[in-house]
Amino acid sequence: MKNIAVLTSGGDAPGMNAAIRAVVRTGLGSGLTVWGVYQGYSGLIEGSFKKLGARDVGSIIQRGGTILGSARCMEFQTEEGRELAIRRMKGAGIEGLVVIGGNGSQTGANALHQMGFPVVGVASTIDNDLYGSDITIGVDTALNIALDALDNLKVTASSHRRALLVEVMGRKCGYLALMAGIAGGAEAIVLPEIEVIPEQLAERIQDGYERGKPHAIVVVAEGAKYNAEALCKYFEEHDLLLGYEFRSTVLGYVQRGGVPTCSDRLLGTRLGSEAVEQMIAGNTGVLVGVSGNSVITTPLDEVVTGHKPLDPWFLKAADMLAR
Ligand code: F6P
Repeated sequence: MKNIAVLTSGGDAPGMNAAIRAVVRTGLGSGLTVWGVYQGYSGLIEGSFKKLGARDVGSIIQRGGTILGSARCMEFQTEEGRELAIRRMKGAGIEGLVVIGGNGSQTGANALHQMGFPVVGVASTIDNDLYGSDITIGVDTALNIALDALDNLKVTASSHRRALLVEVMGRKCGYLALMAGIAGGAEAIVLPEIEVIPEQLAERIQDGYERGKPHAIVVVAEGAKYNAEALCKYFEEHDLLLGYEFRSTVLGYVQRGGVPTCSDRLLGTRLGSEAVEQMIAGNTGVLVGVSGNSVITTPLDEVVTGHKPLDPWFLKAADMLAR
């Protein structure tokens, strides 16, 4: 193998640039030519590639986002779109592709693999919902951003004796909400994985009010049955008493755009570099992720069908500690 390409796809995640840098420099160090593909799978279909040298990836390790750009591409979900992408790569002499991204991106990577094109995935999404890696690139930064926000919001909630319902990202996975909620000392955490009964939640908040708590911070996962706004609406419409005045805040994209933490830079570096090693060794059709302290590979067809459950210890702790 002489020519490989790298792309980032799906939601950007802090640490993706570290992974791109590691792919490029590990590839160059092994005598490969490395191509960057712009705007994810759309760039693959359009043939938007550029050869990357070591200098092209200089001073990017500390930057959030992705220098290659990212996209969610509908055309790539079709057989014709993928065939065109493969033709474009073959036309440029590209023999292997590294895909840095989350579930949707690795589903695309698996489809290419099924069509016989050598692919290695790198586990990257702030949601941490990807089977095949305990932790994914971007999670640590997103969590720290959510945590900073929670610390600030707690100050204001206390000043005004309010209940704040703070919505965090994560799609259908409650990982970010659970971990941010525990680390931020939230009074309650609302997750997609656990049924929420608004009446019980209101009672719990009011109980804290009656016990003299100056605030209530409720961390709500965006994918829960009721998001932060819906919960506030429900409380209002059903005249549920919380004691506190209540408001909702949606953290949204601020969680994605941050400066990558040390942990995300190291994870991106490690996984990006290992992806190239796996490609060279011919171990393709796999996702590179971590298990404990080790880098592991998992077949992409297991990755796209597998489910990563939340750690039951943290679920129990969240309930026990929020008093
Ligand atoms: O997968 C990352 C993520 O930020 C999710 O947490 C969120 O639901 C989604 O992407 C938002 O997607 P988009 O960037 O397409 O609005």
